[in-house]
Amino acid sequence: MTTTLKNTLLFFLLTIGCSLQAAEKPQKAAIASAHFMATEAGHRILAQGGNAFDAAIAVSSTLAVVEQHSSGIGGGAFWLLHRASDGKNVMIDGREMAPSKAHKDMYLDEKGEVNRDLALHGPLSAAIPGEIAGLDHLAQHYGKLPLSASLQPAIEAAENGFPAYARIIRHIERKKKILQRYPASMAIYLPNGKVPEVGDLIIQKDLAKTLKAVAKKGRKGFYEGKVAKKLVKANNADGGIWTLEDLKNYKVLEREPIYSEYNGKKLITASPPSSGGIAIATILNILSAWDLNSMDVSKRVHLIAEAMRRAYRDRSIYLGDSDYVDIPSKLLTHPYYAEGLRASISEIQATPSAILPGIGESPKGTDTTHFSIIDTEGNMVSATLTVNTGLASGFIAAGTGVLLNNEMDDFSAKPGEPNAYGLVGDQANAIEPGKRPLSSMSPTIVIGDDEVAVLGTPGGSRIITMVLLGILDFDAGNPPASWVALPRFHHQYLPDKIYAEKDAFTPEMIAALEKLGHTVQVHNGKWGNMHAVHWDKKTGTVQAASDPRNPMAKAEVK
Ligand code: DON
Repeated sequence: MTTTLKNTLLFFLLTIGCSLQAAEKPQKAAIASAHFMATEAGHRILAQGGNAFDAAIAVSSTLAVVEQHSSGIGGGAFWLLHRASDGKNVMIDGREMAPSKAHKDMYLDEKGEVNRDLALHGPLSAAIPGEIAGLDHLAQHYGKLPLSASLQPAIEAAENGFPAYARIIRHIERKKKILQRYPASMAIYLPNGKVPEVGDLIIQKDLAKTLKAVAKKGRKGFYEGKVAKKLVKANNADGGIWTLEDLKNYKVLEREPIYSEYNGKKLITASPPSSGGIAIATILNILSAWDLNSMDVSKRVHLIAEAMRRAYRDRSIYLGDSDYVDIPSKLLTHPYYAEGLRASISEIQATPSAILPGIGESPKGTDTTHFSIIDTEGNMVSATLTVNTGLASGFIAAGTGVLLNNEMDDFSAKPGEPNAYGLVGDQANAIEPGKRPLSSMSPTIVIGDDEVAVLGTPGGSRIITMVLLGILDFDAGNPPASWVALPRFHHQYLPDKIYAEKDAFTPEMIAALEKLGHTVQVHNGKWGNMHAVHWDKKTGTVQAASDPRNPMAKAEVK
């Protein structure tokens, strides 16, 4: 080989090497969340030298201050992480745990009926929160900055206040009667007895103090010491059963995510105690035999709905907290199992749910939140956080500013008895001390050859199908702005209906689906609040997109 040829070759190889290396990392960072202050908090922490995991702490804690109807430090979350340095994927499980004095009949009255008020409102509806333990774990094991730095934007938002906006005002109006029962809740949400107006500042001094205690002492600032004592005292004074030991014993867990594959793309998604990852994997495995993008649109909806129906049937039978019940995860996510389910689907006729043996409906949602982050190292976070229903139990523990979740209602209070979302559960999801209630939250990362999607949404049982439709849209080659805006439809086995947003189907499509034997129910309301980021590995560019259904949301690339 001549020297010139060698040099040319060397130059060529170097050029390829450089361009591969350049493309191996995103050129910018992308964050999409449900509130502009949270997205800005995340970017602020990145600018201070933090990574995606530090930013996730800033976004989570800021949402806990400015979007309390959806999530908070009195609630729980799943943070799905991908670490670029070693390729580690892990789900940080900060889901709430039932208190030690919880028992399966705790919401039944003397006639054996479920007392819905107790199950949903006030301190007895609250499980032991996991969010602070999760944030502390993120800082200790994955972040670069101290927890105190990442919590700073949230502390400022609590201390200085945030302007009230339509969505939180709607939740306060809806929950007014419950909030009025508790002076500490009144003081924040109904100052002078009145629902705040758009732009009024909501200031939370006690919450700022609690966050400062956590900034100083880590999880001990919440689960032990003064704050813990106040939480237990307030909880017990209004009929709750928390103990100091329950708080001290709260365990954050690292869970192996659910892995699956669709169309050559690798799916990394939520594991139990979420039902979401398994259900999404089952649905995608069933659908993998068909070319969905080239078929008639009504047939496409029909096949997707049939796959949803079957996965939700399995959800109702098998799923619960995997530390308490055996979940056949490997079987449910195996392609052969999906083949069997697919064989039972007719392309020309709907299968009535009644002939598929099983139990139960699944939950619809009222509030929760999701955010997605990718940093310039290629670290990723897909996180869904919740206090359960909008403004949760309605109970702020006096002196702490902490609004307690009502996640106990995600358990099945009595076999066959629907919960807030119409969920009828079985033994797998019965209440037991220390157990985590079954969730639908489905933070997900999808990795293709040249591109990556990070996505998720709130929406109760519809979380699973909304994330699924987002994944299919990504697979069809559409950008994140399309996944988050997509009109949505849903089937959850029981009730035996395809539910749809107003713009999801044309009248012709509805007629075609009805001809196949489906019942279609169109909703006027808007579903979901999806926030997603995308990384094109070939060019190194990133995109962020927020659900247009939420005017407070912000997606930003910086
Ligand atoms: O964990 C769950 O599945 C529920 N607590 C989530 C509730 C929800 O998404 C309500 N949202 N819109």
